[in-house]
Amino acid sequence: MKPIKVGLLGIGTVGSGTFNVLKRNQEEIMRRAGRAIEITMVADLNVERARELTNGECEIVNDANLVVNHPDIDIVIELIGGYGIAKDLVLKAIANGKHVVTANKALLATHGNEIFKAAQDKGVMVAFEAAVAGGIPIIKALREGLTANRIEWIAGIINGTTNFILSEMRDKGIDFATALKDAQALGYAEADPTFDIEGVDAAHKATIMASIAFGIPMQFNKAHVEGITKLEAIDIRYAEQLGYRIKLLGITKRSDKGVELRVHPTLIPEKRLIANVEGAMNAVLVQGDAVGATLYYGKGAGAEPTASAVIADLVDITRLATADPEHRVPHLAFQPNSLSDLVILPM
Ligand code: NDP
Ligand code: HSE
Repeated sequence: MKPIKVGLLGIGTVGSGTFNVLKRNQEEIMRRAGRAIEITMVADLNVERARELTNGECEIVNDANLVVNHPDIDIVIELIGGYGIAKDLVLKAIANGKHVVTANKALLATHGNEIFKAAQDKGVMVAFEAAVAGGIPIIKALREGLTANRIEWIAGIINGTTNFILSEMRDKGIDFATALKDAQALGYAEADPTFDIEGVDAAHKATIMASIAFGIPMQFNKAHVEGITKLEAIDIRYAEQLGYRIKLLGITKRSDKGVELRVHPTLIPEKRLIANVEGAMNAVLVQGDAVGATLYYGKGAGAEPTASAVIADLVDITRLATADPEHRVPHLAFQPNSLSDLVILPM
């Protein structure tokens, strides 16, 4: 069978991780996907760096439109970030009949409803495992593993940068600004790190999880969002003296009035598993009515952990795109149901 052809938009931290892991594990990945997956085109503003990173193995362009408009490309991976050009490119790729893989939670949480509608109308798939909790397969867990459950609530550490900062401040006495710089150098932070430290990135991810778990459209603008910028070293020390750890949690749960969605620093008793999640690790607790509480733990940011999720989506799409289209299961974010509105509880 012919290889499936992939165009990569943005070969930065996650893009280069994706290129490298796909190459390193190509044989296993091909066996699992049922056919070879080849990145044949890469678009990046820095053409020289892209050429070096890909060792001249694919065509490099600096205009991403050339990739989304190319007739030979089957799947577009969007790893540019943000909701400007990225939105444009994703919608163009869909309009051109290409499947899309993206790690861009900001884009999905704010424009996901439009993007999924466009994909559904065109009969293409949009996959986004990497958009929530990096390498942890939480989207698959919610959509597949827990599909029999009525989800009651989800709570988790879903931003690696802030968890890294809080851990570094507590364990090493490092100040906030230095810890943030280290998180940026390690490739954990967003291009605009205020998204991380103000809780916006965690709220984007919680919005996506709420959409899947509760069958509601994405409604990021209704979330309560509070980050870690008001915390000081002394707060972390006092919490410790009282037997607590401070963690930035993303929480979404059902209530009588609808669904609650909030992000804020939380005091957690130090004996709880989630209180001991350190560095850029993430952990997500999901309560289902049949299964009870389940916990998912792993690296929430960084090049290869995120690449692991991006490639899982590539394999899924390759399998589904190869199957008879009539029997294809649509890759939707949500199936709308009666819970149509989020309710923000007063804090
Ligand atoms: P980077 O900034 O490292 O990479 C983005 C790349 O896109 C850069 O190489 C950039 O080039 C390039 N780029 C920017 N604009 C364009 C354009 N118009 N056309 C082509 N290329 C362009 O970001 P990350 O890899 O960290 O993140 C990518 C996405 O993945 C984001 O949506 C992010 O939220 C998400 N994500 C990131 C994780 C992480 O751990 N880093 C984890 C999970 C998701 P230049 O550098 O020259 O600007
Ligand atoms: N900036 C994000 C984080 C990247 O720190 O969690 C992973 O989504």
